[in-house]
Amino acid sequence: MTKEKYDFGLVGLGVMGRNFILNVTDHGFSAYGLDNDQAKISALREEGEGKQVDGTKDKQEFVSALRPPRKIMMLVPSGAPVDAVISDLLPYLDKGDLLIDGGNSFFTDTDRRAEYLQDKGIYFIGSGVSGGAKGARFGPSIMPGGSEEAYKIVAPIFEAVAAKVDNEPCVAYMGPKSAGNYVKMIHNGIEYGLMQLISEIYDVMHRGLGWDNDQMHQTFHQWNQGKLKSFLIEITAEIFAKSDELSDGRLLDMILDKAKQKGTGKWTSQNAMDLGVPIPTIDMAVSMRELSAQKSLRVKAEKTYRQDGRGKANLIAEELEDALYFGFIVTYAQGMTQLAAASKEYSYQLNMATISKIWRGGCIIRAALLEDMRLAFQNDNNLQNLLLDERFIQKIKASEPAARKAALYALSAGIPVVGLVSTVGYFDAFRSGRLPLNLIQAQRDHFGSHTYERLDREGIFHSEW
Ligand code: 6PG
Repeated sequence: MTKEKYDFGLVGLGVMGRNFILNVTDHGFSAYGLDNDQAKISALREEGEGKQVDGTKDKQEFVSALRPPRKIMMLVPSGAPVDAVISDLLPYLDKGDLLIDGGNSFFTDTDRRAEYLQDKGIYFIGSGVSGGAKGARFGPSIMPGGSEEAYKIVAPIFEAVAAKVDNEPCVAYMGPKSAGNYVKMIHNGIEYGLMQLISEIYDVMHRGLGWDNDQMHQTFHQWNQGKLKSFLIEITAEIFAKSDELSDGRLLDMILDKAKQKGTGKWTSQNAMDLGVPIPTIDMAVSMRELSAQKSLRVKAEKTYRQDGRGKANLIAEELEDALYFGFIVTYAQGMTQLAAASKEYSYQLNMATISKIWRGGCIIRAALLEDMRLAFQNDNNLQNLLLDERFIQKIKASEPAARKAALYALSAGIPVVGLVSTVGYFDAFRSGRLPLNLIQAQRDHFGSHTYERLDREGIFHSEW
């Protein structure tokens, strides 16, 4: 009797891979894993006891155990490991099989791989998967891109395993080529911006207002019941409450203030520059991770530029809530303008309402305000900036004074809030019909005869200054 073949294959049985494959088997599909590490295969067998799941180290055995057309997802670190898996599996694959890269791959790598595999008759999908280990296990947000025909092969499995909001799965076909990885990159850029803003408000509360962890825990917990309701606010509330097992205090206070990064935020900023899209809040979030890494230099500078007295902070929790809400909206707005520009530049044909919809659950940037964002883009897929949608105009008008007040206080007290300041600055520039950059044009013409245009007549002008 021939053995029943498996429905789904997964390469890379690390934390994400193991959780994702178990999620797949929870939904009635059988799944087979591949990993070089026998310990990871054993861990999968143990956790998957009683389920239709198994694993192997043998590539050929792995591929031949899958039912054609084979659906194989890779959850391995981005970069060279993805190429290595592709070349390892390729000899055993048949035309019509589907390879899915579920990692945070750089979007141009996805385009290159898709082209290479297309020549060989193998389908390729680059898919963002968000939600961390818990999301992978119980429902991530999934952002697949590539050929739509290829996506249909795996759609039933992805729809089953994805998070659900209002009974709708948080997965949808994003668009051709690397659209899926691009959307995930922007997701992460927004994630960087939101995390930076939250950390700044924490600094204002802690250093400025002198609040303790319990007060911050309670405040964030309360905020998570209101307009700021979101995954990041929820986990931040939990973080403040967590005791340290190695000392008497809270764990947060013992964590070194150097934030690492794996590249997606930086890629977002780099590509925004290429596209000519301003996303200063996300840029600042990347810069702050870099500045955070310069710990010893900061400690040295602190001795030189010691800040004595912080002035009186006349801020209440509701104002900080509004300041953060303003920052959240502006950060999403920046990310979405970049998505719209990329959609044009790379012909992704992105549906902004669909993206907002599948970000409502499962992913790291899920938040109550994504439903408003979905409605805004449903109303107009070509909305040029979220800040011009009726719903958001009102929210921005209501929260802007508090954002400005919090930023002003922090500036006067020497508390670094570069994310918040650049958010307010972006808003001020965005709503300035006339910016002072006429002077920059004059300077360019003065020193380099770079010419300028005029307000009162058509044409290109140059003056002898
Ligand atoms: C997610 C996360 C995930 C990863 C971040 C962390 O959506 O589940 O974004 O992909 O944890 O990319 O990125 P950094 O290491 O750069 O902070």
